Amino acid sequence: MLFRGTLWLLLLLPLRPPGVQGRHGTTSSGQEADEPTPWPSVQRLQEQLRTAGALSKRYWTLFSCTLWPEHCEDQETPVPPLGWSLPLWGRRSLDKLTAWICRFQDCCSGGDCRISNNLTGLESDLRLRLHGQHLASELVLRAVKGYLETPQVSQALALSFHGWSGTGKNFVARMLVENLYRDGVRSDCVKMFIPTFHFPHPKYVDMYKEELQRQMQETQWRCHQSTFIFDEAEKLHPGLLELLEPYLERRSPEAHGAEAPRAIFLFLSNLGGSAINEVVLGLLKGGLSREEITTQHLEMPLQAEIIKSVDSSFGSSRLLKEHLVDFFIPFLPLEYRHVRLCVRDAFLGQDLPYTEEALDEIAKMMTYVPEEERLFSSQGCKSISQRINLFLP
Ligand SMILES: *[C@@H]1O[C@H](CO)[C@@H](O)[C@H](O)[C@H]1NC(C)=O
Repeated sequence: MLFRGTLWLLLLLPLRPPGVQGRHGTTSSGQEADEPTPWPSVQRLQEQLRTAGALSKRYWTLFSCTLWPEHCEDQETPVPPLGWSLPLWGRRSLDKLTAWICRFQDCCSGGDCRISNNLTGLESDLRLRLHGQHLASELVLRAVKGYLETPQVSQALALSFHGWSGTGKNFVARMLVENLYRDGVRSDCVKMFIPTFHFPHPKYVDMYKEELQRQMQETQWRCHQSTFIFDEAEKLHPGLLELLEPYLERRSPEAHGAEAPRAIFLFLSNLGGSAINEVVLGLLKGGLSREEITTQHLEMPLQAEIIKSVDSSFGSSRLLKEHLVDFFIPFLPLEYRHVRLCVRDAFLGQDLPYTEEALDEIAKMMTYVPEEERLFSSQGCKSISQRINLFLP
Protein backbone atom coordinates (compact mmCIF):
# COMPACT_ATOMS: atom_id res chain seq x y z
CA MET A 1 0.00 0.00 0.00
CA LEU A 2 2.77 2.32 1.00
CA PHE A 3 4.64 1.58 -2.14
CA ARG A 4 1.66 2.26 -4.33
CA GLY A 5 1.04 5.49 -2.49
CA THR A 6 4.56 6.56 -3.31
CA LEU A 7 3.93 5.78 -6.90
CA TRP A 8 0.86 7.99 -7.17
CA LEU A 9 2.76 10.78 -5.50
CA LEU A 10 5.53 10.47 -8.02
CA LEU A 11 3.07 10.68 -10.83
CA LEU A 12 1.99 14.07 -9.59
CA LEU A 13 5.47 15.50 -9.43
CA PRO A 14 6.52 17.74 -12.26
CA LEU A 15 9.14 15.96 -14.27
CA ARG A 16 10.37 19.11 -15.97
CA PRO A 17 13.83 20.37 -15.10
CA PRO A 18 13.68 23.56 -13.00
CA GLY A 19 15.00 25.87 -15.71
CA VAL A 20 12.27 25.31 -18.21
CA GLN A 21 9.14 25.52 -16.14
CA GLY A 22 6.16 26.80 -18.00
CA ARG A 23 7.85 26.58 -21.32
CA HIS A 24 6.51 23.30 -22.47
CA GLY A 25 4.00 23.51 -25.24
CA THR A 26 5.31 26.82 -26.54
CA THR A 27 7.52 25.29 -29.15
CA SER A 28 6.18 23.13 -31.85
CA SER A 29 9.50 22.34 -33.44
CA GLY A 30 11.12 21.21 -30.21
CA GLN A 31 14.40 22.53 -31.59
CA GLU A 32 15.76 25.69 -30.05
CA ALA A 33 19.33 26.65 -30.68
CA ASP A 34 20.23 28.63 -27.56
CA GLU A 35 18.15 26.94 -24.89
CA PRO A 36 17.96 23.46 -23.57
CA THR A 37 15.07 21.69 -25.20
CA PRO A 38 11.95 21.64 -23.04
CA TRP A 39 12.19 17.88 -22.72
CA PRO A 40 9.33 17.03 -25.01
CA SER A 41 9.87 13.36 -24.43
CA VAL A 42 9.82 13.80 -20.68
CA GLN A 43 6.65 15.77 -20.96
CA ARG A 44 5.11 13.07 -23.07
CA LEU A 45 6.23 10.45 -20.61
CA GLN A 46 4.75 12.45 -17.80
CA GLU A 47 1.42 12.63 -19.55
CA GLN A 48 1.55 8.98 -20.35
CA LEU A 49 2.29 8.11 -16.77
CA ARG A 50 -0.54 10.26 -15.51
CA THR A 51 -2.91 8.43 -17.77
CA ALA A 52 -1.30 5.16 -16.88
CA GLY A 53 -1.81 5.98 -13.24
CA ALA A 54 -5.50 6.62 -13.74
CA LEU A 55 -5.92 3.60 -15.93
CA SER A 56 -4.06 1.35 -13.60
CA LYS A 57 -6.06 2.42 -10.63
CA ARG A 58 -9.19 1.70 -12.58
CA TYR A 59 -7.64 -1.54 -13.67
CA TRP A 60 -7.01 -2.55 -10.07
CA THR A 61 -10.54 -1.68 -9.12
CA LEU A 62 -11.91 -3.70 -11.97
CA PHE A 63 -9.54 -6.46 -11.19
CA SER A 64 -10.29 -6.80 -7.52
CA CYS A 65 -14.02 -6.25 -8.00
CA THR A 66 -14.14 -9.04 -10.52
CA LEU A 67 -12.27 -11.33 -8.22
CA TRP A 68 -13.74 -10.54 -4.90
CA PRO A 69 -17.00 -8.70 -5.30
CA GLU A 70 -17.53 -8.63 -1.54
CA HIS A 71 -14.81 -5.97 -1.35
CA CYS A 72 -16.63 -3.73 -3.78
CA GLU A 73 -20.15 -3.97 -2.51
CA ASP A 74 -20.32 -0.51 -1.10
CA GLN A 75 -18.40 1.08 -3.92
CA GLU A 76 -21.12 0.65 -6.51
CA THR A 77 -18.48 0.78 -9.20
CA PRO A 78 -19.93 -0.26 -12.49
CA VAL A 79 -17.58 -2.80 -13.94
CA PRO A 80 -17.62 -2.62 -17.71
CA PRO A 81 -15.80 -5.47 -19.37
CA LEU A 82 -12.48 -4.16 -20.54
CA GLY A 83 -10.18 -5.89 -22.96
CA TRP A 84 -6.47 -5.70 -22.77
CA SER A 85 -6.05 -3.45 -25.75
CA LEU A 86 -6.92 -0.11 -24.20
CA PRO A 87 -4.83 0.06 -21.04
CA LEU A 88 -2.00 -2.00 -22.49
CA TRP A 89 0.46 0.78 -23.18
CA GLY A 90 -0.54 2.47 -19.96
CA ARG A 91 0.25 -0.50 -17.85
CA ARG A 92 3.49 -0.98 -19.73
CA SER A 93 4.65 2.48 -18.73
CA LEU A 94 3.62 1.80 -15.17
CA ASP A 95 5.41 -1.54 -15.08
CA LYS A 96 8.54 0.10 -16.39
CA LEU A 97 8.30 2.80 -13.78
CA THR A 98 7.77 0.24 -11.03
CA ALA A 99 10.82 -1.69 -12.10
CA TRP A 100 12.79 1.53 -12.30
CA ILE A 101 11.81 2.69 -8.82
CA CYS A 102 12.66 -0.72 -7.43
CA ARG A 103 16.25 -0.35 -8.52
CA PHE A 104 16.60 2.60 -6.17
CA GLN A 105 15.02 0.96 -3.18
CA ASP A 106 17.15 -1.57 -1.44
CA CYS A 107 14.23 -3.43 -0.06
CA CYS A 108 12.86 -4.12 -3.45
CA SER A 109 15.76 -5.70 -5.20
CA GLY A 110 14.38 -8.92 -6.48
CA GLY A 111 11.11 -8.18 -4.76
CA ASP A 112 12.24 -10.26 -1.81
CA CYS A 113 11.11 -7.82 0.82
CA ARG A 114 7.56 -8.36 -0.28
CA ILE A 115 7.73 -12.09 0.12
CA SER A 116 6.58 -13.05 3.59
CA ASN A 117 6.03 -16.83 3.30
CA ASN A 118 4.10 -17.05 6.53
CA LEU A 119 3.36 -20.77 6.58
CA THR A 120 2.03 -20.57 10.14
CA GLY A 121 -0.43 -17.94 8.99
CA LEU A 122 -1.43 -20.07 6.02
CA GLU A 123 -1.97 -23.08 8.23
CA SER A 124 -4.08 -21.16 10.69
CA ASP A 125 -6.13 -19.51 7.94
CA LEU A 126 -6.82 -22.83 6.29
CA ARG A 127 -7.83 -24.34 9.60
CA LEU A 128 -9.98 -21.51 10.90
CA ARG A 129 -11.39 -19.69 7.91
CA LEU A 130 -11.93 -22.41 5.34
CA HIS A 131 -14.93 -24.61 6.05
CA GLY A 132 -15.64 -28.16 4.99
CA GLN A 133 -12.49 -28.66 2.92
CA HIS A 134 -10.31 -31.01 4.90
CA LEU A 135 -8.69 -32.40 1.73
CA ALA A 136 -7.93 -29.10 0.03
CA SER A 137 -6.68 -27.64 3.29
CA GLU A 138 -4.25 -30.47 3.91
CA LEU A 139 -3.09 -30.81 0.31
CA VAL A 140 -2.47 -27.13 -0.32
CA LEU A 141 -0.50 -26.72 2.89
CA ARG A 142 1.58 -29.83 2.29
CA ALA A 143 2.33 -28.95 -1.33
CA VAL A 144 3.21 -25.31 -0.71
CA LYS A 145 5.20 -26.00 2.44
CA GLY A 146 7.12 -28.78 0.73
CA TYR A 147 7.90 -26.57 -2.23
CA LEU A 148 9.00 -23.53 -0.25
CA GLU A 149 11.12 -25.57 2.14
CA THR A 150 12.99 -27.36 -0.63
CA PRO A 151 16.40 -25.68 -0.76
CA GLN A 152 16.83 -25.94 -4.52
CA VAL A 153 13.93 -26.26 -6.88
CA SER A 154 14.16 -27.40 -10.45
CA GLN A 155 10.63 -26.57 -11.50
CA ALA A 156 7.51 -24.63 -10.71
CA LEU A 157 4.80 -25.91 -8.42
CA ALA A 158 1.49 -26.31 -10.23
CA LEU A 159 -1.74 -26.89 -8.35
CA SER A 160 -5.09 -27.36 -9.97
CA PHE A 161 -8.17 -26.55 -7.87
CA HIS A 162 -11.41 -28.29 -8.80
CA GLY A 163 -14.92 -27.97 -7.51
CA TRP A 164 -18.24 -26.22 -7.76
CA SER A 165 -18.39 -22.48 -7.50
CA GLY A 166 -18.53 -21.12 -3.98
CA THR A 167 -16.59 -24.01 -2.49
CA GLY A 168 -13.55 -21.88 -1.70
CA LYS A 169 -11.13 -22.09 -4.63
CA ASN A 170 -10.71 -18.34 -4.93
CA PHE A 171 -10.75 -18.02 -1.19
CA VAL A 172 -7.82 -20.41 -0.80
CA ALA A 173 -5.89 -18.75 -3.64
CA ARG A 174 -6.29 -15.44 -1.84
CA MET A 175 -5.27 -16.90 1.54
CA LEU A 176 -2.21 -18.31 -0.10
CA VAL A 177 -0.99 -15.06 -1.62
CA GLU A 178 -1.93 -13.08 1.46
CA ASN A 179 0.34 -15.26 3.56
CA LEU A 180 3.10 -15.58 1.00
CA TYR A 181 3.30 -11.92 -0.01
CA ARG A 182 3.16 -8.86 2.13
CA ASP A 183 0.88 -7.07 -0.34
CA GLY A 184 -1.23 -10.11 -1.10
CA VAL A 185 -2.87 -10.11 -4.48
CA ARG A 186 -1.62 -6.59 -5.13
CA SER A 187 1.97 -7.72 -4.90
CA ASP A 188 4.04 -7.25 -8.00
CA CYS A 189 5.06 -10.86 -7.60
CA VAL A 190 1.49 -12.11 -7.99
CA LYS A 191 -0.39 -12.11 -11.26
CA MET A 192 -3.95 -13.22 -11.68
CA PHE A 193 -5.60 -13.91 -14.99
CA ILE A 194 -9.25 -14.46 -15.78
CA PRO A 195 -9.81 -15.59 -19.36
CA THR A 196 -13.18 -13.93 -19.86
CA PHE A 197 -11.69 -10.69 -18.59
CA HIS A 198 -8.10 -10.71 -19.81
CA PHE A 199 -8.38 -12.88 -22.91
CA PRO A 200 -11.98 -12.39 -24.04
CA HIS A 201 -11.62 -12.60 -27.83
CA PRO A 202 -10.11 -15.72 -29.40
CA LYS A 203 -9.12 -13.74 -32.48
CA TYR A 204 -6.65 -11.71 -30.43
CA VAL A 205 -4.96 -14.75 -28.99
CA ASP A 206 -1.59 -13.80 -30.47
CA MET A 207 -1.66 -10.48 -28.72
CA TYR A 208 -2.73 -12.13 -25.47
CA LYS A 209 0.11 -14.60 -25.77
CA GLU A 210 2.62 -11.85 -26.19
CA GLU A 211 1.25 -9.93 -23.24
CA LEU A 212 1.03 -12.98 -20.99
CA GLN A 213 4.57 -13.96 -21.91
CA ARG A 214 5.83 -10.47 -21.17
CA GLN A 215 4.08 -10.32 -17.80
CA MET A 216 5.33 -13.72 -16.72
CA GLN A 217 8.88 -12.95 -17.74
CA GLU A 218 8.89 -9.58 -16.07
CA THR A 219 7.42 -10.98 -12.88
CA GLN A 220 9.96 -13.77 -12.74
CA TRP A 221 12.74 -11.33 -13.45
CA ARG A 222 11.56 -9.07 -10.67
CA CYS A 223 10.73 -11.67 -8.05
CA HIS A 224 12.55 -14.71 -6.78
CA GLN A 225 9.20 -16.17 -5.99
CA SER A 226 6.18 -15.45 -8.11
CA THR A 227 2.64 -16.74 -8.14
CA PHE A 228 0.42 -16.96 -11.20
CA ILE A 229 -3.26 -17.62 -10.75
CA PHE A 230 -5.46 -18.66 -13.64
CA ASP A 231 -9.08 -18.42 -12.67
CA GLU A 232 -11.66 -20.11 -14.92
CA ALA A 233 -8.82 -22.28 -16.20
CA GLU A 234 -11.34 -24.34 -18.16
CA LYS A 235 -11.78 -21.33 -20.46
CA LEU A 236 -8.11 -20.83 -21.29
CA HIS A 237 -7.38 -20.82 -24.99
CA PRO A 238 -5.24 -23.77 -26.18
CA GLY A 239 -2.65 -21.29 -27.43
CA LEU A 240 -2.26 -19.82 -23.96
CA LEU A 241 -2.06 -23.24 -22.33
CA GLU A 242 0.69 -24.10 -24.75
CA LEU A 243 2.55 -20.95 -23.84
CA LEU A 244 2.59 -22.05 -20.19
CA GLU A 245 4.28 -25.39 -20.85
CA PRO A 246 7.90 -24.23 -20.73
CA TYR A 247 7.20 -22.43 -17.45
CA LEU A 248 6.03 -25.66 -15.85
CA GLU A 249 8.63 -27.97 -17.28
CA ARG A 250 11.58 -29.16 -15.28
CA ARG A 251 14.63 -26.95 -15.69
CA SER A 252 18.14 -28.17 -15.56
CA PRO A 253 19.57 -26.90 -12.26
CA GLU A 254 22.66 -25.49 -13.99
CA ALA A 255 20.50 -23.18 -16.06
CA HIS A 256 19.84 -20.89 -13.13
CA GLY A 257 22.57 -21.68 -10.68
CA ALA A 258 21.78 -21.62 -7.00
CA GLU A 259 19.14 -18.94 -7.29
CA ALA A 260 16.57 -20.56 -9.50
CA PRO A 261 13.38 -18.52 -9.11
CA ARG A 262 10.40 -20.22 -7.59
CA ALA A 263 7.00 -20.06 -9.21
CA ILE A 264 3.64 -21.28 -8.03
CA PHE A 265 0.90 -21.79 -10.59
CA LEU A 266 -2.70 -22.13 -9.51
CA PHE A 267 -5.36 -23.24 -11.94
CA LEU A 268 -8.91 -22.74 -10.69
CA SER A 269 -11.78 -24.40 -12.48
CA ASN A 270 -15.12 -26.09 -12.04
CA LEU A 271 -13.97 -29.02 -14.15
CA GLY A 272 -14.57 -32.27 -12.34
CA GLY A 273 -16.96 -30.61 -9.91
CA SER A 274 -19.80 -32.97 -10.75
CA ALA A 275 -17.59 -36.02 -10.35
CA ILE A 276 -16.51 -34.81 -6.91
CA ASN A 277 -20.09 -34.17 -5.87
CA GLU A 278 -21.28 -37.56 -7.08
CA VAL A 279 -18.56 -39.44 -5.25
CA VAL A 280 -19.07 -37.46 -2.06
CA LEU A 281 -22.82 -37.99 -2.15
CA GLY A 282 -22.33 -41.72 -2.68
CA LEU A 283 -19.88 -42.02 0.19
CA LEU A 284 -22.00 -40.00 2.60
CA LYS A 285 -25.07 -42.05 1.76
CA GLY A 286 -22.97 -45.15 2.27
CA GLY A 287 -22.41 -44.11 5.87
CA LEU A 288 -18.95 -42.54 5.66
CA SER A 289 -18.41 -39.31 7.51
CA ARG A 290 -17.18 -36.38 5.45
CA GLU A 291 -13.80 -36.33 7.14
CA GLU A 292 -13.24 -39.98 6.30
CA ILE A 293 -13.23 -39.16 2.60
CA THR A 294 -9.70 -39.34 1.23
CA THR A 295 -8.01 -38.26 -1.97
CA GLN A 296 -7.95 -41.90 -3.04
CA HIS A 297 -11.74 -41.87 -3.22
CA LEU A 298 -11.70 -38.88 -5.54
CA GLU A 299 -8.54 -39.06 -7.59
CA MET A 300 -9.64 -41.36 -10.39
CA PRO A 301 -13.15 -40.02 -10.97
CA LEU A 302 -11.87 -36.44 -10.81
CA GLN A 303 -9.10 -36.93 -13.34
CA ALA A 304 -11.36 -38.97 -15.60
CA GLU A 305 -13.91 -36.17 -15.73
CA ILE A 306 -11.28 -33.49 -16.31
CA ILE A 307 -9.74 -35.37 -19.20
CA LYS A 308 -13.00 -36.21 -20.88
CA SER A 309 -14.42 -32.70 -20.74
CA VAL A 310 -14.95 -31.77 -24.38
CA ASP A 311 -15.75 -28.08 -24.17
CA SER A 312 -12.47 -27.22 -22.48
CA SER A 313 -8.91 -27.40 -23.74
CA PHE A 314 -7.50 -27.77 -20.26
CA GLY A 315 -8.23 -31.48 -19.95
CA SER A 316 -6.59 -32.34 -23.24
CA SER A 317 -3.67 -29.94 -22.89
CA ARG A 318 -0.06 -31.04 -22.61
CA LEU A 319 -0.06 -29.63 -19.10
CA LEU A 320 -2.10 -32.65 -18.08
CA LYS A 321 -0.78 -35.18 -20.55
CA GLU A 322 2.82 -34.50 -19.61
CA HIS A 323 1.98 -34.41 -15.89
CA LEU A 324 3.07 -30.82 -15.54
CA VAL A 325 0.37 -30.29 -12.92
CA ASP A 326 1.64 -31.57 -9.59
CA PHE A 327 -1.54 -31.82 -7.56
CA PHE A 328 -5.24 -31.96 -8.33
CA ILE A 329 -7.03 -30.50 -5.36
CA PRO A 330 -10.68 -31.40 -4.84
CA PHE A 331 -13.05 -28.92 -3.23
CA LEU A 332 -16.02 -30.77 -1.77
CA PRO A 333 -19.59 -29.53 -2.04
CA LEU A 334 -20.59 -27.61 1.08
CA GLU A 335 -23.31 -28.70 3.46
CA TYR A 336 -25.72 -26.68 5.54
CA ARG A 337 -23.42 -26.57 8.58
CA HIS A 338 -20.58 -25.16 6.49
CA VAL A 339 -22.74 -22.48 4.96
CA ARG A 340 -23.80 -21.56 8.48
CA LEU A 341 -20.15 -21.10 9.44
CA CYS A 342 -19.61 -18.89 6.41
CA VAL A 343 -22.56 -16.76 7.52
CA ARG A 344 -21.10 -16.46 10.98
CA ASP A 345 -17.73 -15.43 9.53
CA ALA A 346 -19.43 -12.82 7.38
CA PHE A 347 -21.02 -11.27 10.48
CA LEU A 348 -17.77 -11.40 12.42
CA GLY A 349 -15.85 -10.03 9.46
CA GLN A 350 -18.03 -6.94 9.50
CA ASP A 351 -18.02 -6.66 13.28
CA LEU A 352 -21.74 -7.21 13.42
CA PRO A 353 -23.65 -8.93 16.19
CA TYR A 354 -25.62 -12.01 15.16
CA THR A 355 -28.03 -14.52 16.62
CA GLU A 356 -28.16 -18.27 16.07
CA GLU A 357 -31.56 -17.75 14.46
CA ALA A 358 -30.15 -15.31 11.94
CA LEU A 359 -27.42 -17.81 11.00
CA ASP A 360 -30.03 -20.50 10.42
CA GLU A 361 -32.31 -18.23 8.52
CA ILE A 362 -29.61 -17.06 6.12
CA ALA A 363 -28.16 -20.53 5.67
CA LYS A 364 -31.66 -21.72 4.79
CA MET A 365 -31.90 -19.16 2.03
CA MET A 366 -29.41 -21.07 -0.08
CA THR A 367 -30.59 -23.73 -2.50
CA TYR A 368 -29.69 -27.27 -1.57
CA VAL A 369 -29.33 -30.10 -4.04
CA PRO A 370 -29.91 -32.78 -5.19
CA GLU A 371 -33.68 -32.64 -5.22
CA GLU A 372 -34.05 -35.64 -2.96
CA GLU A 373 -31.33 -35.32 -0.34
CA ARG A 374 -30.95 -31.53 -0.30
CA LEU A 375 -27.50 -32.01 1.07
CA PHE A 376 -25.22 -29.59 -0.80
CA SER A 377 -25.51 -25.86 -1.23
CA SER A 378 -25.62 -25.22 -4.95
CA GLN A 379 -23.82 -21.89 -4.61
CA GLY A 380 -21.56 -23.02 -1.79
CA CYS A 381 -20.75 -20.00 0.33
CA LYS A 382 -21.03 -17.56 -2.52
CA SER A 383 -22.53 -14.10 -1.96
CA ILE A 384 -23.20 -14.74 1.72
CA SER A 385 -22.07 -11.26 2.67
CA GLN A 386 -24.72 -9.71 0.41
CA ARG A 387 -27.34 -11.79 2.13
CA ILE A 388 -26.48 -10.73 5.64
CA ASN A 389 -27.27 -7.16 4.70
CA LEU A 390 -30.92 -8.13 4.62
CA PHE A 391 -30.75 -8.99 8.28
CA LEU A 392 -29.24 -5.86 9.57
CA PRO A 393 -31.41 -3.73 11.81
C1 LIG B 1 1.94 -15.04 10.41
O1 LIG B 1 0.55 -15.15 10.51
C2 LIG B 1 0.07 -15.22 11.83
C3 LIG B 1 -1.41 -15.53 11.77
O2 LIG B 1 -2.08 -14.75 10.85
C4 LIG B 1 0.38 -13.91 12.52
O3 LIG B 1 -0.08 -13.95 13.85
C5 LIG B 1 1.88 -13.69 12.50
O4 LIG B 1 2.17 -12.43 13.04
C6 LIG B 1 2.41 -13.76 11.09
N1 LIG B 1 3.85 -13.73 11.11
C7 LIG B 1 4.54 -12.86 10.40
C8 LIG B 1 6.01 -12.98 10.53
O5 LIG B 1 4.02 -12.03 9.70
